Amino acid sequence: MKGIILAAGKGTRLYPTAQVVNKQLIPVYDKPLIYYPLTTLLSAGIREILIISSQKDVASFQALLGDGSALGISISYEVQHVQCGIADAFRIGESFIGDDPVCLILGDNIFWNKEIDSILAQCAQMTQGALVFGLHSEVPQQFGVIEFDKNGIAISIEEKPINPKSNFIVPGLYFFDAEVTDIAKHIKPSARGEYEITSVIEAYLKQGTLKVLPLSKDTVWFDAGTPERILEASIAVRALQKEYGVSIGCVEEASCKKGYITAHDAHLIAEQMKNSEYGKYLFSL
Ligand code: DAU
Repeated sequence: MKGIILAAGKGTRLYPTAQVVNKQLIPVYDKPLIYYPLTTLLSAGIREILIISSQKDVASFQALLGDGSALGISISYEVQHVQCGIADAFRIGESFIGDDPVCLILGDNIFWNKEIDSILAQCAQMTQGALVFGLHSEVPQQFGVIEFDKNGIAISIEEKPINPKSNFIVPGLYFFDAEVTDIAKHIKPSARGEYEITSVIEAYLKQGTLKVLPLSKDTVWFDAGTPERILEASIAVRALQKEYGVSIGCVEEASCKKGYITAHDAHLIAEQMKNSEYGKYLFSL
């Protein structure tokens, strides 16, 4: 399975902060936002990763993460010239995806729960159809909303509906088979002019090949797209790290756990950042 991180949005809800700095490079507590979705992909066992960003920001991501070899993975980069929707990631990533299934994660989405590593590793085994998650939300109208029948079968999905049919939303982490590139080519732009990820999911739903996995209520999930959410996410990450003595979104630790790099490799990286708490944590691996 391959992985794509979509990080090309303008981040206008974060202006002036995101005017010159890409949203995914802004810190959430002690590390850049992109470390969290990257850790999610690594925890799923995905080692071939494409980062899609805007022309002006690709160089910054390259400076931060390089070709991924320091983490024992491969990272390549593509540019999204016009921010015309999340589903555009599959057009841009068509040759990268090739004949493989792919996991797409939005660059501003943070996931954590105690079982997340094993859930993700299982999801990454899928080869047919589509798999998305369902999460309870008090403000479903801000997200993609999924409706279930009385047997728990998904029957509709709508992007930011004014009158949501349920409180179940689909967070920004999606698994698709290789057919997704063809499906994405055939969807039409929505009323707001975007190639919506919900249109792609809806195509799988209509084909009868969509699986929705509910995530437990204790799942920590953030769509860190506003100053308020970035602050809340920072506070939550700090609290969880203190409570469990772990580092959430630590890419080196995720790579170590998967055996992509050794603890010694992580310590070499730590040498360059030994003044920070993050660097000190790496020495403990
Ligand atoms: O966070 C989950 C939600 O994400 C889903 O429930 C929705 O179905 C989905 O549409 C999306 O809604 P958002 O309003 O949060 O999407 P947003 O426009 O904020 O974009 C999410 C990320 O994707 C953000 O980091 C910017 C990036 N992006 C977005 C678009 C539209 C791109 O890189 N290129 C784009 O063209």
